[in-house]
Amino acid sequence: MAGPFIAVWSPKGGTGKTLISAGLAMHLVRRNTASQTLLIDLDAGGAHIAPLLQVSLRPSVLDYAYGVRTAIHPSGLHVLAGPARLVDAPLVTAELTQTLLEKARAVGYLAVIDLDSDLRDSTLVALEKADAVLLLTTPDLLSLYACRRFTQEAELIGLDLAKFRLVINRATARTDMPEAELIDLVGLPLAGKVPSLPGLAAAVNRGMMSATGRSNTDFAVALQQVADGLQFAGVPDSPLARLTSPVEAEKPVGLIGAVRRWWRSL
Ligand SMILES: Nc1ncnc2c1ncn2[C@@H]1O[C@H](COP(=O)(O)OP(=O)(O)OP(=O)(O)O)[C@@H](O)[C@H]1O
Ligand SMILES: [Mg+2]
Repeated sequence: MAGPFIAVWSPKGGTGKTLISAGLAMHLVRRNTASQTLLIDLDAGGAHIAPLLQVSLRPSVLDYAYGVRTAIHPSGLHVLAGPARLVDAPLVTAELTQTLLEKARAVGYLAVIDLDSDLRDSTLVALEKADAVLLLTTPDLLSLYACRRFTQEAELIGLDLAKFRLVINRATARTDMPEAELIDLVGLPLAGKVPSLPGLAAAVNRGMMSATGRSNTDFAVALQQVADGLQFAGVPDSPLARLTSPVEAEKPVGLIGAVRRWWRSL
């Protein structure tokens, strides 16, 4: 049984799409034994997955669409990086997105898709083809405005909001934004919340995302909650429904040397 394909999107930049899509994919690869897990970087301009997970820049989404296989991270996660060269970003068209998602479907992957915040044609294709969409917001006025504007117009552009779930990232108790009001404003059911993790930037810089897929146990617990919140995904025998193993405690590692080696290998 193929899928599900989970797109991670937000109409606002910097809300944590890349961090959460990579964290979720690394989380799922350890728990999903029913199928292979694939992380696809469709943020062609950003292409942040390769540095975050320190995977090869090739094969990229462009190569895959033309028949090349995926890269494989040491965790077993299959990865398709964004285009290696910034000037190639416009090559990630709606047609190419459609082709590569169809190829990945045919393999039977469980896929997580990182997107940028523009609602360009290629993004629309990914949102249409996904079985489930995590709409990310941070608990602040500008992000909420962007999400509400999107949910009010989604049906006009032909997107089915039934498969969308809200994720509140950087959730803290100190935003003067009651959660119920926030959820009501956006108008989507909540899949989960990811707390503000003070050590996260340092953990990413040290390459810890690449080694473990998360910065600490709080992140892993939050990602499990999000995966649980996705079990609606419209795919009754989805591998997500069989993810039962508990979250293990995280051991700190210092990997700055590994990051340097990855950087020099480019
Ligand atoms: N829960 C969190 N706690 C602490 N820092 C976070 C959290 N979520 C995201 N960040 C940080 O916020 C920044 C933006 O995150 P990220 O790059 O994942 O956002 P994005 O939505 O993918 O951005 P873009 O729109 O540019 O693609 C990063 O430095 C990331 O480490
Ligand atoms: Mg990003």
